[in-house]
Amino acid sequence: MAKIVLLEKIHQSAVEHLQAEGFTDIVQMPTALKPDELKRVLADVDMVGIRSATHVSADTLQQLPRLKAIGCFCIGTNQVDLTAAAAQGIPVFNAPFSNTRSVAELVIAQAILLLRRIPEKNAKTHRGQWDKSAQGAYEVRNKVLGIIGYGNIGAQVGILAESVGMRVNYYDVESKLPLGNARPMPTLDDLLATADIVTLHVPGGSTTENLMTAERIGLMKPTAVLINASRGGVVDIDGLNTALREKRLAGAALDVFPAEPKNEKEEFISPLRGLDNVILTPHIGGSTEEAQENIGREVSDKLARFLKAGTTRWAVNFPEIRHLVKEAKSRVLHVHRNEPGVIARMNADFAASGMNIVAQHLQTRGPIGYVMTDVDAVIPADLLQKLRSEPATIRCELI
Ligand code: NAI
Repeated sequence: MAKIVLLEKIHQSAVEHLQAEGFTDIVQMPTALKPDELKRVLADVDMVGIRSATHVSADTLQQLPRLKAIGCFCIGTNQVDLTAAAAQGIPVFNAPFSNTRSVAELVIAQAILLLRRIPEKNAKTHRGQWDKSAQGAYEVRNKVLGIIGYGNIGAQVGILAESVGMRVNYYDVESKLPLGNARPMPTLDDLLATADIVTLHVPGGSTTENLMTAERIGLMKPTAVLINASRGGVVDIDGLNTALREKRLAGAALDVFPAEPKNEKEEFISPLRGLDNVILTPHIGGSTEEAQENIGREVSDKLARFLKAGTTRWAVNFPEIRHLVKEAKSRVLHVHRNEPGVIARMNADFAASGMNIVAQHLQTRGPIGYVMTDVDAVIPADLLQKLRSEPATIRCELI
């Protein structure tokens, strides 16, 4: 039975899901572990679950020959040396979709609050002012929501927006199936010129850096508002600041920033602080109890499927093989260096042992190859030994 360690107070939903899948040897620990402790605690462990505070380096991985999979119970995976893990035959899983709904709901709330001028009304009321004016306050019904980046989050925002009566336009660099009554816009500029609310849901990185330049912000209607819950680098903050102060834009809601404090002690610095028509939140778009629970389930499900069937779909560093129910008696999981002749030699070994292969699935990713072989017989120990000693073999497991 596989031994599993879950660190950093991973949600109980993970334990429940793993237990329901038949894994009972689960140890939970409340904190992250330092490299030396990791090596000691994980020496005889098959699978570890971590969050963002546990760093798994190449050096640590080398000391953990038994480790078969790593689950990052969060979105980011840069706390793990992914290349070193793949080179050791260890797939790494995370939870890219578990907080989609949380972000989408926040965006809808922000759209309604901004159009009703609630941030200003709230700030004034806190200061003792009683401003009952309806001027500049609108319903979202029949307003145009412009979504930039119609992926997992963007598309879900569109669905929720239609349910409160908004009209949805979107712009994506890829051709995307419109959901509900959403309409694709031919260009980003068209989207900006027609939207009452613009919301960004693009990935971060060099291709979207400063996507919303001062010039593009200038294309938006002066009555429109801008929402960014994607990545901080996507919006030119100085350009946005100027547009807001010059009243060329009615308001904004930002959950992500080009520079974010690393911890609670560090001060948040931004030119947008103090602006009454701006909602600022500390990168909590995806931070809900439900998202934590979903993350527990999503990652533990990926780990359970890997341990029970060798499934690597959605692994972030590994050749992906989709879930295939194990129907034959034996399944051999073989991770190898991606070079010519490995499969031919391997299949010759199966044939020499009189084994008939009933299904075989191969995927490669960079220098790593992963092949899943189903045989309707018990695999003899000497065949397994032979496969393991093949020079290109990184890892060979039987399930
Ligand atoms: P996704 O990958 O499903 O969708 C991104 C979409 O943007 C894709 O359809 C892609 O084709 C499109 N795209 C890429 N470059 C574009 C461009 N230049 N112009 C227009 N469209 C472009 O990603 P998902 O899961 O929807 O996440 C979206 C963003 O939300 C990411 O940046 C992610 O980091 C962020 N996020 C923020 C959270 C928060 O707490 N605020 C929580 C979760 C995700």
